[in-house]
Amino acid sequence: MTNSPLPFDPSASAPHKPVLLREMLEHLNPAEGEIIVDGTFGAGGYSRAILDHAPCTLYGIDRDPSAVATGTKLAADYDGRFHMVEGCFGDMATLLPAHGVAQVDGIVLDIGVSSMQIDQADRGFSFRTDGPLDMRMSMSGPSAADFVNTAEEEDIANVIYRFGEERASRKVAHKIVEMRAETPFTSTGQLASAVRSVVRKAKDGIDPATRTFQGLRIHVNDELGELDRALNAAETILKPGGRLVVVTFHSLEDRLVKTFFKERCGDPRKQSRRLPGEPEAAKPTFSTLSRKVVTAQKDELRANPRARSAKLRAAERNDLPSTAAKKTGGAA
Ligand SMILES: C[S@@+](CC[C@H](N)C(=O)[O-])C[C@H]1O[C@@H](n2cnc3c(N)ncnc32)[C@H](O)[C@@H]1O
Repeated sequence: MTNSPLPFDPSASAPHKPVLLREMLEHLNPAEGEIIVDGTFGAGGYSRAILDHAPCTLYGIDRDPSAVATGTKLAADYDGRFHMVEGCFGDMATLLPAHGVAQVDGIVLDIGVSSMQIDQADRGFSFRTDGPLDMRMSMSGPSAADFVNTAEEEDIANVIYRFGEERASRKVAHKIVEMRAETPFTSTGQLASAVRSVVRKAKDGIDPATRTFQGLRIHVNDELGELDRALNAAETILKPGGRLVVVTFHSLEDRLVKTFFKERCGDPRKQSRRLPGEPEAAKPTFSTLSRKVVTAQKDELRANPRARSAKLRAAERNDLPSTAAKKTGGAA
């Protein structure tokens, strides 16, 4: 979940240490009586902080059944103010109404995998410990092993290149296809050795398997598609004045968030400086709450090295119809 060479810091151990917690609360600014959504419940670090900060009602969403089990236990501590919902945050515009919630005052997303997911070898996310080649956050659907054992060589190379930013993606994909003809991949150790046999260790000491594992994880969980759907869903379910706070750890994710906010917050100069005949720019549906990207302060970086690649962006919804509603002529 990081943009740094090491996606998962070996020093980060369960339970998950929330990142940019102070800054998240400041931008989300939950208040009494409000309805807030934590779309990435994880170990509940953000959720607990929000519930302790203000007497609001909070809906925690996670696709990982073990995170859901943690959240279900947490509900007893908060006297009806906390509700755990199992599912994908990209589906929040349908998941929440199914729980009787149409509009919300705040949404926070802390994108990526949790320390628990990484640390448990049997989840198959890590190349540091041997485990089944799985990587599914939701523990359902096709696993990383299914993909590497059945996909076309070119598709494997594209995934590793696009989501892992591995320059030697073709070499890696070729090796995978060659090796699976002998023995299908079942373990993280097997895949890590295959990658290490064709990609040299860089001078900075980063494990050559890092980028391939990252690419496969993003693909298996459709992480960028989920984020894109969640941002659009947030636009439709946030009330006027509602806040959207997103924390990312990877440049591909941050780029998506940055572009979304840039488009939706608009450029006020463009609105007023339109030339005659030039089509009207889309009216902004958000205004920015973080003119500059927010990163961790020195004290947090010292306490939690995982925070070094975290980026927070936030914006506030206004009362104009959502972009989706404008396109369909609906009222969302
Ligand atoms: C970085 S952790 C969140 C940690 C949390 N903020 C805390 O303080 O404990 C990310 C969590 O989001 C979940 N997650 C990732 N993608 C998701 C998605 N598309 N839908 C729902 N949950 C998702 C993961 O299963 C993981 O538990």
